[in-house]
Amino acid sequence: MCGIIGYCGQKPAVPIIIEALKRLEYRGYDSAGVASLSDGRLLIRKDAGKVDEVIQKHNLASLPGNVAIGHTRWATHGGVTQLNAHPHSDCGGRIAVVHNGIVENNQQLRQELTKLGHKFTSETDSEVIPHLIEDELKSGCSLEQAVLNIAPKLEGSYAFLVMAPDNPAKIVGTRRNNPLIVGINATDYYVSSDALAFSQYTNQVMGLGDNEVVMLTQEGVQFFDPKGNKLAKQVRKLDQSWAESHKGGYQHFMLKEIMEQAQMLGQTACQDGKTFTKIALDILRANQVIITACGTSRYAALVGRYLFSKVGKKFCDVIMASEFGYFADSVDKNTIVIAVSQSGETADIIEGVKAARDNGAQVISIINRPNSILADLSHQVIYLNCGAEIAVAATKTFLSQLAIFYLLSFSMVDAFDEATAKLASLNGEITRVLDWNKSELIKLSQNLKDKNDFYYIARGINFAIASEGALKLKEISYAHAEGMPAGELKHGTLALIEPGTPVVVICPADYTFSETLSNAIEAKSRGAYIIGVSDKESEVYDSWIKLPKVDELLYPMVAVVPLQLLAYYLAVNRGCDPDKPRNLAKSVTVK
Ligand code: G6P
Repeated sequence: MCGIIGYCGQKPAVPIIIEALKRLEYRGYDSAGVASLSDGRLLIRKDAGKVDEVIQKHNLASLPGNVAIGHTRWATHGGVTQLNAHPHSDCGGRIAVVHNGIVENNQQLRQELTKLGHKFTSETDSEVIPHLIEDELKSGCSLEQAVLNIAPKLEGSYAFLVMAPDNPAKIVGTRRNNPLIVGINATDYYVSSDALAFSQYTNQVMGLGDNEVVMLTQEGVQFFDPKGNKLAKQVRKLDQSWAESHKGGYQHFMLKEIMEQAQMLGQTACQDGKTFTKIALDILRANQVIITACGTSRYAALVGRYLFSKVGKKFCDVIMASEFGYFADSVDKNTIVIAVSQSGETADIIEGVKAARDNGAQVISIINRPNSILADLSHQVIYLNCGAEIAVAATKTFLSQLAIFYLLSFSMVDAFDEATAKLASLNGEITRVLDWNKSELIKLSQNLKDKNDFYYIARGINFAIASEGALKLKEISYAHAEGMPAGELKHGTLALIEPGTPVVVICPADYTFSETLSNAIEAKSRGAYIIGVSDKESEVYDSWIKLPKVDELLYPMVAVVPLQLLAYYLAVNRGCDPDKPRNLAKSVTVK
């Protein structure tokens, strides 16, 4: 949800910023902009549109200077217009700010600043920041002191970077509840929402705590606590797998990420058995276990709930992160909260986890992105280790989350090694599912591309896969899609089935097969077009997506893969960009 980047060093800054914006585009892609400092002048170029469009239209690459900041936007306050694009400036055009997050008291600040004579040019909440800094600089303080002074006036969550020609060769940044990470390579200094933005140049990183301030100059990096005292920071090493950000010959990141899942599963499964067994025992001992997550991660959590119950005989609840706060009263020190988040940044999760911690709960997180806010808030972190996921719609991270739940549940019965071996055997099965079904899925997506309503049904552990399949489709194809337990179809949804309505039926040849097939027949009797996702053929299916026969608990992992591919091909056939779906962002850092 907005990506910010700053560079200060010896090299031409703007090419580095442009490259970073392309890597950050997963965080927002409705507008982009750059500000650079050159010969005492502040040069700002920004516009609505995707990063590449803005780069070309404003010839960004021609901007000179060795100090620059950039922004890629996902609009929250104010429409998608050039004026609302970042960087934002003060009245005199002497300050440039890029901001990620929301300044919740922006209306009040705007009114106060307007009374003092400030002129606003955008509808954004962010614009109050340069105007507040303007007043501080007028009173003669340094840029870093100005940031320290204004930060306490801002309510909400934010990470922002600021530069000004009166404080040349300097970028100052701060954060609260939104990410900001610093990278260092000899005499080059980077600061960004995500280390992915600069990970091709350095793997030496330093994190910034809430309310801390960082100052980048051409001589080095200096950190301050909220009172302005200098802070010493440890340099950490970034996992190099995080540096990759290319499509590997595929047309889209999403396709690449679907195709590399089998390989990534192996990386995810490489976990420490002792740690897993200890976490599993803690989960078993806890009075109550709550899993909290959003979007795709929540569907992984639903599979996790099923696995905990079936394998570990441990009941737990899954609560949508945006609703979790309303249950905080029943969370206590005997509660384990498992937070599942690809990004480790989702605002609703961060808020819920903070409330849970305040009530004494133990927090275990399952995260992909390193150096996240959620990781800092957790007592224990399990990493997916499946590399950066760039496409907005989650695919490989979902499969990896399932693998982690599989390992955890088997660890509850002291069978971590057995689970690892079973996951290893899945590698070939996933490759087979893709090979078997690719041409059928392409054909199907061509035939169904004009349909606007899709239903996905399944039972038991695969119900969450029906929901995830539907979510993938609506996220990237803009078709209405709903996933539900097959038994629920008759409680309302059957009324919506018309001749030709596609119904995707996940019915592995297990204990759910007959009942699920009966539900498919009910839909077919009303004219539905049945897409069977199964290892067992049936005349009920109008189209058959073939699955390999696997252990009952592993069907979710083989069934979700062709559903991801179906969503991908449907999006492409409907003329949508699957990597950058409208109105969505990969990291949702606002509530
Ligand atoms: C957004 C993304 C989804 C993601 C969800 C949760 O909605 O577009 O792909 O599943 O956030 O994100 P998280 O990073 O917490 O897993």
